[in-house]
Amino acid sequence: MRRLIRQFVRVETVAVLVTAWLAGALGLGLATGGGAVPTVALMALGPLLGGLLLLIRHNLDLASRIGNLAGETNRTLDTVRRVRADIEEKVEKEIKKEIKQTFRQLEALQNLSAVLPANDLLPATRGWAASPDLLVMLVDLVISERPSLVVECGSGASTLWLALAMRQFEIDGRIIALDHDPVFGGKTRDLLARHDVRDLAEVRDAPLESFSLDGETYSWYARRAWEDLTGIDLLFVDGPPATTGHQARYPALPLLSGSLSPVATAVLDDLIVPDMQKVLRRWLDAYPDFGSEILPLEKQAAVLRRR
Ligand SMILES: C[S@@+](CC[C@H](N)C(=O)[O-])C[C@H]1O[C@@H](n2cnc3c(N)ncnc32)[C@H](O)[C@@H]1O
Repeated sequence: MRRLIRQFVRVETVAVLVTAWLAGALGLGLATGGGAVPTVALMALGPLLGGLLLLIRHNLDLASRIGNLAGETNRTLDTVRRVRADIEEKVEKEIKKEIKQTFRQLEALQNLSAVLPANDLLPATRGWAASPDLLVMLVDLVISERPSLVVECGSGASTLWLALAMRQFEIDGRIIALDHDPVFGGKTRDLLARHDVRDLAEVRDAPLESFSLDGETYSWYARRAWEDLTGIDLLFVDGPPATTGHQARYPALPLLSGSLSPVATAVLDDLIVPDMQKVLRRWLDAYPDFGSEILPLEKQAAVLRRR
């Protein structure tokens, strides 16, 4: 029935039918001499029925549109539910990953504090500073390899922990940390003083200057701050910050490789940063006598040693 109404009830069809009705009713009235009132009443029935038919048709159209709208609403709701489930799954995964990572870092910090007792407040780790898992690895290197000279590119929390390790394990060595920023360098010096390890670790102010290497120009620590260093057993590359220039840490190996001891270990932090991965690849290409191991730490680090 609905299909029939939709198919046949149109304004044009109804107009034709009403016109025919009017003409028929008028003809009938005149032919039968039925009088004006019954004829007009019969004629009026035509537009009324026509209007009714158009109203029914309009309501059917409206009902069909409402039906379509309901379908679309359901489909939209399904999509929203799917996207929400997807987001919830991703957020849950991220939270679990973060909880696991936080536990690992707390465990590492607890480990450091237990092995290396400090007599003053400790600096923050993670973020700009080295993460506790990397600090554990560096301290472990210091304990096992007993370096005579540790050189750090970028001073901070790591300088203190390395110095505490030197003191605790009575290692006959020293740490030289380079810092391009005199304010941060000064803070590290204060930290070392508070922990009474300034005899073991020195922070050198080393403003960045221009170096030309393999046809490219880099900004790196001023030559006067490191040119006297020889026999470096442990080189920790954690600066300058990436914001100071492209492949900011690349010059470390080209400029200091001649000052490394034959058994030296170099550690490059922040391999989660693509720029740092490029630095590592370029080092390995330029120094094939070095092999590297990638450590799955919070910010990832590479340990390089001569093969
Ligand atoms: C990656 S940080 C070195 C971190 C250091 N090895 C440690 O474990 O704390 C490299 C350089 O960034 C600078 N720096 C440190 N903290 C910073 C901060 N919160 N904002 C901007 N620069 C910072 C210092 O000059 C530092 O030498």
